[in-house]
Amino acid sequence: MSTFPIELVVNGEAVRASVEPRMHLGDFLRRDLGLTGTHLSCEHGVCGACTVLIDGMPQRSCITFAAACSGTAITTVEGYGDDPVMAALRQAFHEHHALQCGYCTPGMLCTARDIVLRLPGPDARRVRHELAGNLCRCTGYVGIVEAILAVLLKKSSGELAMPVQAAAGAAEAAVATAADDGWVPIDLAEDGQWVEVRQSLALAQGADAAWKHLEDLPLVANCLPGAKITRHAGRRAEGVMDVKFGPVTASFAMRAELDLDAAARRGNMRAEGVDRRSSTRVKTLLDYDVVPVDAGHCKVALQLRFRLAGPLAQFSRAGLVNDYVAELTRRFGVNLGNAMAGVTAAAPVEAPGLFAMLMVRLRRLFGG
Ligand code: FES
Ligand code: FES
Repeated sequence: MSTFPIELVVNGEAVRASVEPRMHLGDFLRRDLGLTGTHLSCEHGVCGACTVLIDGMPQRSCITFAAACSGTAITTVEGYGDDPVMAALRQAFHEHHALQCGYCTPGMLCTARDIVLRLPGPDARRVRHELAGNLCRCTGYVGIVEAILAVLLKKSSGELAMPVQAAAGAAEAAVATAADDGWVPIDLAEDGQWVEVRQSLALAQGADAAWKHLEDLPLVANCLPGAKITRHAGRRAEGVMDVKFGPVTASFAMRAELDLDAAARRGNMRAEGVDRRSSTRVKTLLDYDVVPVDAGHCKVALQLRFRLAGPLAQFSRAGLVNDYVAELTRRFGVNLGNAMAGVTAAAPVEAPGLFAMLMVRLRRLFGG
């Protein structure tokens, strides 16, 4: 059978290997690298035992192809070194009797660490909900939840040093706006790690003309495939964002705020939402800059950062989700260009499907 060459970083070490296309990451870690701390149970993406970090995000290694992980950084339960959050969790799991046979524990610790990084303080209901994707057949979960709450308590009291990466990400994302009319400002500060997508859009319009369109929040939001505005006041809006990703469908109730710097022709749209059926949350930051080219042309530089948290984030394969968002951003750019030109029919406002994602992957593989 043919093999794929891959290069990745596993627990801080550069790894080069050749893998069969159908080999999943869990088998690669266990069989090829001898990292048997990653446990495999259902091998269907259901139990969470095989959860590892891929580029800092908890993902199921049994439903992630090793070949798709080239260029990523993987962290398994063997690779946390002196990470303070993992050290606190290990101790708390010990003190609260949060394991019996220990089979679920590597995946449980990985998810627990992500929960501690994201939640501002102890919240038993939310911890239970966030743990829904990790199954334990022994403990009854009480000790596990208590252990995570104990570490969250340390975090909120300032006793626990947080990893530098999370603190820096939170500081960068912090947004302060005044609530003057009952609107609760969108707070992105608790989030540590963002996935980033950049696009550049060439427009046959001068920069001033293009900027006038970009000041229009409904116009900008409606160009996002799957988005629909239901309420709008000034630079704030509420609406829904429908997503269909293979067999997964979700409908996120969204809120968005727009900040504009007309002098610099620069906009920043912050949005957050929740899919109530799965209780998956999404937060996004969209920055756009209008850059003049000549009197009749300009470019719009788009930078989208997003973070998914909750069950859909855990069940989804990170690479495909990132491709999905990249394609969403590309279609947003096309729709925006058409809306500015007064064209509505050429680019239907719909979310990209799995087929489009596969085409993105194939184009990348074959350099098309
Ligand atoms: S082994 Fe059960 S989710 Fe991967
Ligand atoms: S401790 Fe045995 S499965 Fe969780």
